[in-house]
Amino acid sequence: MKPVITKLLIASHNLGKVKEIRDMLAPYNVEVVSAEELKMPDVPETGKTFEENARLKAETLCKMSGFFCLADDSGLCVNCLGGRPGVLSARYAPDRDFDKGMDLLLEEIKNSGSVDRSAYFACVLALANPNGKTLIFEGRVDGHIADKKSGKKGFGYDPIFVPDGFDKTFANFSEEEKNKISHRGKAFLKFITEVF
Ligand code: IMP
Repeated sequence: MKPVITKLLIASHNLGKVKEIRDMLAPYNVEVVSAEELKMPDVPETGKTFEENARLKAETLCKMSGFFCLADDSGLCVNCLGGRPGVLSARYAPDRDFDKGMDLLLEEIKNSGSVDRSAYFACVLALANPNGKTLIFEGRVDGHIADKKSGKKGFGYDPIFVPDGFDKTFANFSEEEKNKISHRGKAFLKFITEVF
């Protein structure tokens, strides 16, 4: 049975992310509030997997607030690097400078000597219910790491990630085009279809 959600807390301090989720949920008659707006703490991402981190954030803020709480965690996993940077994707870039982070990653792949450049983006959403049950929704997009950066759109590692079936990086996709195939787009589609 679908849970009845009238108020949803988003476990994020990123108002851009919160706006995107608010827009997506506009048709569903649910009040969306955020950890930023309610001045709730930033829950440290201490987990070893995307799911552990998403659960930790959602369940901690759900317990504190008594509201349904949605949290996400995502990142880029490069196969020849044993899945790194993975859950450390945001912290891999020095001073969160992704231009430097991408250079570092391209250098690491080159130094690995591997010809395998396959990689994937993963996103896990956790919806914590005040009744103690948490639902998990996952999305993944497979592809490879390009030889060099290309494109100006998107964010993070988009300029070096080429999704399977295309010959351009995510940084050359429109937002709408990316959302249709992206890890985050897929996870959110599952969340909305199964919950609302
Ligand atoms: P978080 O999910 O907010 O912890 O962020 C994870 C990190 O993964 C981001 O800071 C980006 O570096 C990277 N990342 C996640 N999704 C994407 C994407 O769609 N494009 C590029 N980078 C991404």
